[in-house]
Amino acid sequence: MNILLLGSGGREHALAWKITQSTKCSQLFVAPGNAGIAQIATNVAVNPMDFNAVKQFVLDNAVEMVVVGPEDPLVKGIYDFFKNDSALSDIPVIGPSQHGAQLEGSKEFAKQFLVKNNIPTARYEAFTKDTVEAGCDFLKTLIPPYVLKADGLAAGKGVLILNDLTEAQQELSNMLVDAKFGDASSKVVIEEFLDGIELSCFVLTDGKSYKILPTAKDYKRIGEGDTGLNTGGMGAVSPVPFADAEFMQKVEERVVIPTINGLKNDSIEYKGFVFIGLIKVGNDPFVIEYNVRMGDPETEVVIPRIKSDLVELFQAVANQTLANAVLETDKRTATTVMIVSGGYPEDYEKGKAITGLDQIEDSIVFHAGTAEKDGNIVTNGGRVIAVTSYGENFKDALKQSYKNVEKINFDKKYYRTDLGFDL
Ligand code: AMP
Ligand code: GLY
Repeated sequence: MNILLLGSGGREHALAWKITQSTKCSQLFVAPGNAGIAQIATNVAVNPMDFNAVKQFVLDNAVEMVVVGPEDPLVKGIYDFFKNDSALSDIPVIGPSQHGAQLEGSKEFAKQFLVKNNIPTARYEAFTKDTVEAGCDFLKTLIPPYVLKADGLAAGKGVLILNDLTEAQQELSNMLVDAKFGDASSKVVIEEFLDGIELSCFVLTDGKSYKILPTAKDYKRIGEGDTGLNTGGMGAVSPVPFADAEFMQKVEERVVIPTINGLKNDSIEYKGFVFIGLIKVGNDPFVIEYNVRMGDPETEVVIPRIKSDLVELFQAVANQTLANAVLETDKRTATTVMIVSGGYPEDYEKGKAITGLDQIEDSIVFHAGTAEKDGNIVTNGGRVIAVTSYGENFKDALKQSYKNVEKINFDKKYYRTDLGFDL
């Protein structure tokens, strides 16, 4: 069948890599894709947020399945757009309904869902510009650091963690009154700080049943030792060594099952990935956030550890027969190291020629932000290339990734050399 994948990053390259290995896939189109994806699939110049353009492409090219990489089209309602259009309603969209996508689109919605379903999470309250004073008072009842979250999508920048009460009160006002994150911060969730180590749990669901995919841990900060600004992710490891069987049983019982049941009980249509951001406090899991898509760069380690046919799993999701499907995973560890443009996550330059891609041995290269220019592959984003490797343990896998990372070069290349330091 012909499949259309929406997105253009390392996550989409990893998904495309896996989808094209399926005998069920005759042609894979990726909108808009990147230079790496172009080597294995057909890139198409369609904006994933322009649903009418997506519709036209799907109809013109006999597309029989749409897989959504990033959150924006989901939060905008692409699932419902297909479902409600008689020309498209038979074509499955892998991703949640607009209602389900609120788990990522609104922090308050997610917190209400967590509380309603008795899923462990930090205590919180939500405020608007009419209740700034109450918000300032609520901050006084908390022990620092203070966690402030813009309710809406803010490109991963909407969470502030502050040590000082006065500063937290000032930032609350900046977010609510001065629209620091635009519309996204017209509501702010303030929550208790949880002290622990973070990991991500990925679930594929058809709305009735679920499969827990390999766990992963990403490294969000730009600097060594988890310092400096937040990024989209500088690398990842799967599985997470400290997420042992006992811990994962708690995750399944306390988090995954109540999440799937909560969606069912509220009649929220959900046929796609759930990305559960967890924090391990002592030996117990707490939910930090939900995302309604796969993580990036977590996908670059999770997908290579899935042995089963991904398109068959997607078909089972669409037909709601996931309970009968088998998920086979690779026992080995996978790691990925992200090579980024110097300056990222602040200002950086694009268009730098990338060399060494043909020198890579025993790793998988996933392109994140690349483009083709005059026959050369050039940088086209902050995060540029992810180098994924397998190993018997995370140290071996990382060693292999780093060996190949050194061969890839471009002007002002940067990467973190300390991934796994905390494991
Ligand atoms: P979020 O966008 O909700 O995942 O938040 C971004 C980051 O802020 C998370 O990955 C955590 O590192 C941190 N964070 C969010 N909420 C909390 C919390 N309640 N306690 C401690 N850290 C948090
Ligand atoms: N790596 C974190 C994310 O995809 O949101």
